[in-house]
Amino acid sequence: MGEFPFVKVFYYTPLEINAQPLQILKTHRSEYQPALAWFGYVLLASILMLIYAGAFTTTIKAGMVFPDWPLSNGSINPEGWLTNQALFAEHSHRLIGATVGILCIVLVIWLWRRESRGWLRALGWLTLALVILQGGLGGTRVLLNSLSFAMVHGILAQGFLCLVATVALALSPLWHNAHPSRSPAATATGARLRTWGLWITGILFAQLLVAVLMRHLDAGMSIPTFPLTPEGTLVPVTWDAGIFLNFAHRALATVLFVGILAWSWSIVQSPHTSGGSKLLACVTTLILFIQIGLGASIVWTERLAAPTSLHVLNGALLLAATWSLTFLFFKPWIEGIAPAAPRGRSATTQSPLHPSAARA
Ligand code: HEM
Repeated sequence: MGEFPFVKVFYYTPLEINAQPLQILKTHRSEYQPALAWFGYVLLASILMLIYAGAFTTTIKAGMVFPDWPLSNGSINPEGWLTNQALFAEHSHRLIGATVGILCIVLVIWLWRRESRGWLRALGWLTLALVILQGGLGGTRVLLNSLSFAMVHGILAQGFLCLVATVALALSPLWHNAHPSRSPAATATGARLRTWGLWITGILFAQLLVAVLMRHLDAGMSIPTFPLTPEGTLVPVTWDAGIFLNFAHRALATVLFVGILAWSWSIVQSPHTSGGSKLLACVTTLILFIQIGLGASIVWTERLAAPTSLHVLNGALLLAATWSLTFLFFKPWIEGIAPAAPRGRSATTQSPLHPSAARA
């Protein structure tokens, strides 16, 4: 007598579950895992949403609309938050933050169960530690009504984004498909582009510090015209702290513009760089142009909330893209210290760094 298909399903599913589950759950891979990689992208996208919500909240000065934390006016569904812009901005920032926290827990578990690269699993744990710290800083900022905590919270947000971008990059085909040549010329080019990338990342970070100070001291419009000052000069005629910060921000933007363009061009035209790094260099350049355009539009629109918040978000993206591109040039160095398991050992590939490999 024939069987209904679902009977077969009932028949085989337990067998499969009995034979495979532990193996499936315990396989550690160093090769590309699409589901895990996509999870990394989703986490990255949710952090970008979180940064935009935070930037918007700061721009419209709604950081203190709820005096309490972790609840908002003693509730997770405070009255009126869906209809009032300020309440919506701050409460949605908190809700997205909580979601990102949960996603980070999932990331740690997923990496722990399935990823063979020990350094990547360690980065997963760091992600979780940072998201907890970042939440605590945000909460302390509210409970103490502290501007200093707000600034540290704003800076750490971008560091956190860079960390998650590193994890997402290491999980992506961009990383897995980059097989840099070990020839002396390729090694020298890689080292040069890596050093260059570190410098640009450092200058971007300095730019972030200047920008955070400028923003929290309400000095965004200290030079109210762009690209020239109201006197028609490039360098301000009169000076105070706000004008100094504003001018420093513009000067650093010029240095970054030239530096990133030259770096990207070097990467794109080099015969020794991977297709992935060339693509990332083009994307970084595009983000740079958008950043300058958004910066100009803040001044021209006299700090309209949308372009101002988008400038913060895009600035974070520029830092993360620059750092990710730099990190890609660290691949030969990282794999020299912590080599991935040999290719072709397929699903059960194990890293020599993973404890389970020692037992094998
Ligand atoms: C590579 C270039 C640039 C980068 C990376 C950058 C980055 C940033 C960041 C991250 C912030 C916000 C800091 C925070 O509170 O978290 C900011 C604020 C600001 N940026 Fe830029 N920026 C760049 C270029 C420019 C340019 C060309 C202008 C044009 C004048 C500009 C104008 C501003 C202004 C006015 C603010 C303060 C907004 C406010 O008052 O809320 N930026 N920038």
